[in-house]
Amino acid sequence: MRPQAHASLPPVRLAVVGTGYWGPNLIRNARELDCFDLQAVCDLREEILVRVRSRYPGVRTTTRLDDIMSDDAIEAVVIATPVSTHYDIAAAALAAGKHVLVEKPLAGSLDMAARLAADASARGLVLLPGHTFLYSPPVNLIAGMIARGELGDIYFASTSRVNLGLHQSDVSVIWDLAPHDFSILRYWFGEIPLSATATGRACILPGVADVAFVSLEFPHGVVAHTELSWLAPAKLRRTTIVGSQRMVIYDDTSPEPVRIYDSGVLLESPQSFGEFKLTYRTGDILSPRVEPTEPLSLELRDFHDAIRTGSEPRSSATIGVEVVSMIEAAEQSLGADGRRVAVAVPTTTAAAGHL
Ligand SMILES: NC(=O)c1ccc[n+]([C@@H]2O[C@H](COP(=O)([O-])OP(=O)(O)OC[C@H]3O[C@@H](n4cnc5c(N)ncnc54)[C@H](O)[C@@H]3O)[C@@H](O)[C@H]2O)c1
Repeated sequence: MRPQAHASLPPVRLAVVGTGYWGPNLIRNARELDCFDLQAVCDLREEILVRVRSRYPGVRTTTRLDDIMSDDAIEAVVIATPVSTHYDIAAAALAAGKHVLVEKPLAGSLDMAARLAADASARGLVLLPGHTFLYSPPVNLIAGMIARGELGDIYFASTSRVNLGLHQSDVSVIWDLAPHDFSILRYWFGEIPLSATATGRACILPGVADVAFVSLEFPHGVVAHTELSWLAPAKLRRTTIVGSQRMVIYDDTSPEPVRIYDSGVLLESPQSFGEFKLTYRTGDILSPRVEPTEPLSLELRDFHDAIRTGSEPRSSATIGVEVVSMIEAAEQSLGADGRRVAVAVPTTTAAAGHL
């Protein structure tokens, strides 16, 4: 991991908006880091703010978003509200001159995500989408192996992110869970897919898909398959990456999250016409030690450093927009009986010279 500059720089005065299921994790991490001064927490529900006050007596609480936006002492806002509210709250925070960390996905449409990215850039403010897995030590260990060519050519990846619940009422399972896998795949392979195909079903809530199978095709040939579900008997967080030299299984629920298989198959040159010979290799299995650092803490430090030093956060606004573009393509395919849909290349990606 790259060195963090946060230690020697002044703390960022922060507010957190939304403290339902996920917000408390952001609040806890912000409180534990001395690079933040958590000043206020906002939520529409007074009953949960009572708990925040009793746990963190020095932190102000409010049900009014305006109290946060009009407070000039607050430099940055962390938004952990439902997806359908991300655009309005993030846009208001940027308009108030505040740096923004908005939970994944960045916004509820590509158009809104691109507008937030453009606005932040025009104002010189940091916009960090909360793609927490980009700060996960196992994900970064694998990213390093891919970058160093240790897996060889990547043939394909397949991911399973399934468990029982939590059904969201405002978005499908793709909007809820795919941001994790899509951001990881985008980060590992350094490119966005050309196309997405998706099938799925709304089993419980009418019109809200709670299971989806998404396939992605990347420009350099990698194919990826992502299984997403809120309806499963057991929790799976498992990714398999198959390369020409090695294969990896990343299981985020395991105490040994990364297992590297020195396995492969070789097609030997034919001795005569029509003949082919395959040699299968099953070598050592290695389970490297992985730092137990909490990704959310690293994400918040990156947010601080981006604000104080002007560095580009690893989870950049560009990646946030790209992930939303991938989600939109998958959703369109889902609504069109699995037709292949091109993933739109966001203007921010083209401008950043990423493609
Ligand atoms: N990075 C991760 O691993 C991760 C994990 C879970 C959820 N999330 C993301 O976090 C966000 C929140 O998810 P959740 O499961 O915590 O939702 P939630 O419904 O449990 O909580 C949302 C909270 O926001 C509050 N809220 C809604 N509108 C508001 C407004 N206008 N002003 C102030 N407060 C408002 C609600 O009262 C509620 O307490 C979503 O974007 C979700 O995708 C990220």
